[in-house]
Amino acid sequence: MRYPILTAEEAAEYVGNGMNVAFSGFTACGTPKAIPVAIAQRAKKEHEAGREFKINVFSGASTNDCVDGELSRANAVNKRTPYQSCPDTRKLVNSGEICYFDLHLSELAQKMRYNTFGPLDVAVLEVQSIDDEGNAVLGTGIGASPTFAMMAGKVLLEVNEGINPKIRGLHDIYVPLDPPYRREIPIYKPSDRAGTPTLHIDPAKIVGVVKTNVPEGGHPFSPSDETTMMIGENVCAFLLGELKAGRIPSSFLPLQSGVGNIANAVLARLDANADIPPFEMYTEVIQDSVLNLIKSGKCRFASTCSMTFSTEAMTEFFDNIDRFHDKVLMRSAEISNNPEVIRRLGVITMNTALEADIFGNVNSTHVVGTKMMNGIGGSGDFTRNAYISIFSCPSVAKGGLISAIVPMVSHLDHSEHSVDVLITEQGIADLRGKSPIQKAETIIENCANPKYRPLLREYLKMSKGGHTPHTLRAAFAFHETFMAEGDMSKTDFAKF
Ligand code: COA
Repeated sequence: MRYPILTAEEAAEYVGNGMNVAFSGFTACGTPKAIPVAIAQRAKKEHEAGREFKINVFSGASTNDCVDGELSRANAVNKRTPYQSCPDTRKLVNSGEICYFDLHLSELAQKMRYNTFGPLDVAVLEVQSIDDEGNAVLGTGIGASPTFAMMAGKVLLEVNEGINPKIRGLHDIYVPLDPPYRREIPIYKPSDRAGTPTLHIDPAKIVGVVKTNVPEGGHPFSPSDETTMMIGENVCAFLLGELKAGRIPSSFLPLQSGVGNIANAVLARLDANADIPPFEMYTEVIQDSVLNLIKSGKCRFASTCSMTFSTEAMTEFFDNIDRFHDKVLMRSAEISNNPEVIRRLGVITMNTALEADIFGNVNSTHVVGTKMMNGIGGSGDFTRNAYISIFSCPSVAKGGLISAIVPMVSHLDHSEHSVDVLITEQGIADLRGKSPIQKAETIIENCANPKYRPLLREYLKMSKGGHTPHTLRAAFAFHETFMAEGDMSKTDFAKF
């Protein structure tokens, strides 16, 4: 290999206080495992010596504990974007110690190519292999690595021998030209390849390689419970109704699914339902449930940005790679989440809400309006450009102390204009073609938990006048009551 072999500690010396540093991958997949830990150790030593050491962290999406966890615990993060889901980072984001700006994932690459956040000093990229000409085979998640490699002044590589070499050929690396020269992205069906299987990195920028050997794969999601199964059943029922009514063509349309326990349960129900025809996916993350869908033949093809499989599923995938090789393609987030492609393909999107209001506005990010949970992720990229956008969530959280359906969302991520359908374990609210008052009646009767329906009806009744009736002084009565008494169901509108 023509590149110097470095220890992680030597590599970390290339990262200095105040630098913009980007890490490869998308979720834990494809995220570096050694250099960020060494950067965190360096930060601790610098702090002990009384010197400042904080970096601005860019990534494809959430990362692994080696990036967000280690760097946050070392108090080594100044700015952070576009997404995180790490408890230690979240704590510092919510205490104001990390300057976090939550961004649509598809937008990061172009913003970086125009130096919106200043020049990128260092990119730390995990790869499966790299040749002397700089052609790299990436790992199980791409994120924004192609743009990071293009824009960084210096590139530090982690060559992870734990990534199965059979991964070669599963990547589609394509960077669009920037405005005003952009042409259409040549993807007309989820399986279309637009670019190359390897990423070219200018060898002159590669300052060194750190070797690691960490197998890819994480923990499986919890098994579905009764609530998530009911949500899944309701999503199936809605899709079947649309097929029957001819509003979805009989050949079906590509599906996008968020990540997490609810998304996993929804996909499992789609697999189990014999009336749902085989489909393709155009999505940003595939998890174990998608592997099952591919095995059963229900999912014919999955275009994704990362393969967030459990260790068992990852082993199964690579043991049977001949069967799966023509069924999966990984793309950068700029392409997997691209509004142009999503709109062209007619993607049906399925994402999770923290809370929704009776008029169909959705909050995906802020607990009680103030505390950041994770971020908007790709949910906005997909929702706004969907053929049909579906949001689902359990009707209550924290054992019923919180209603997911509220008079007014305490933070807005997806406005009523982008939200077509709301689904809880209680039922389906199809919001298309309805006025705000009709939306409110449908959401309260079909989706709200029976425990909260009387309160929500009362709110609607007391709110008179206008196109979208509200009683502004009481719009956050549910949240105020929860903060004061720990239980939204104790809301007394007379007090507001
Ligand atoms: N108020 C306060 N807390 C709430 C809540 C509400 N209205 N609704 C849910 N929660 C809590 C749950 O109790 C749970 O807390 P816990 O971790 O302490 O048990 C937590 O939020 C997660 O909720 P859960 O029901 O398990 O759903 P999830 O794991 O699917 O996560 C989101 C839901 C919204 C946080 C998650 O989907 C997300 O971050 N979405 C935004 C990004 C996105 O959509 N990405 C995919 C796009 S492709």
